[in-house]
Amino acid sequence: MAKKQRLDKAIAMQGSLSRSEVKTLIRKGAVTVNGQVVKNADFGVDFDSDTVAVQGKELSLSMHIYLMLNKPKGVVSASEDKKLPTVVDLVPKELWRKGLFPAGRLDKDTTGFVLITDDGEFAHDILSPKKHISKTYHALVNGTITDEMVEGFAKGVTIGEDFTLPASLKKISSEEQGDWGEVILKEGMYHQIKRMFGAYGLKVLELKRVQMGKLPLDPNLEEGKCRELTAEELRLVSTRDESTEE
Ligand code: URA
Repeated sequence: MAKKQRLDKAIAMQGSLSRSEVKTLIRKGAVTVNGQVVKNADFGVDFDSDTVAVQGKELSLSMHIYLMLNKPKGVVSASEDKKLPTVVDLVPKELWRKGLFPAGRLDKDTTGFVLITDDGEFAHDILSPKKHISKTYHALVNGTITDEMVEGFAKGVTIGEDFTLPASLKKISSEEQGDWGEVILKEGMYHQIKRMFGAYGLKVLELKRVQMGKLPLDPNLEEGKCRELTAEELRLVSTRDESTEE
């Protein structure tokens, strides 16, 4: 995608000002490009090489935004909902942009890593089963994780009309209610993990997404909070984890 954009749009894309507010500031001479006042809203700026400042404050220009959210229970993975709070509602004002959406859905009662972005192409890439980007979950089930289940997940499980891709299952601990397992998927079918365990007669009591690609959920990010990914973290999200390849 071209990295050049109209000045007014480039500033509005960063989120905190509307296009008309930006236009007024440009007209008033409050916007500089590479240190020179520019009063022309359709002046072309290069996101990689130009420095834009508004009222003396330098902006870090980016075409898109990528956020890591630690999703709490009770929040739906959508951009808007008539009744319930959405993951996008949890984005604070300073990070908010038009067109934000979650790249992949977690159920209302699932917690953990949700990537929120305004970059449709990137979202498509990391979600496509063809790209083999793994998503790692921790699940508490109401019983025992057996070798038969580990082998079954590795072959792929029939769930209703569907057959899943091979998935990794590993038991990580046990507690009174049942076992905790780590599940690694390369796709995201509706209620997939619940249905996979369901095929073995088990119910999922807790489910948390703990990693996307090679990027773990930040352990310091509290539930309900989100923050921007660094360039290196973004690279890790879209990196295949070869250790999970069959
Ligand atoms: N599998 C599920 O069953 N639910 C989720 O939210 C994610 C994976």
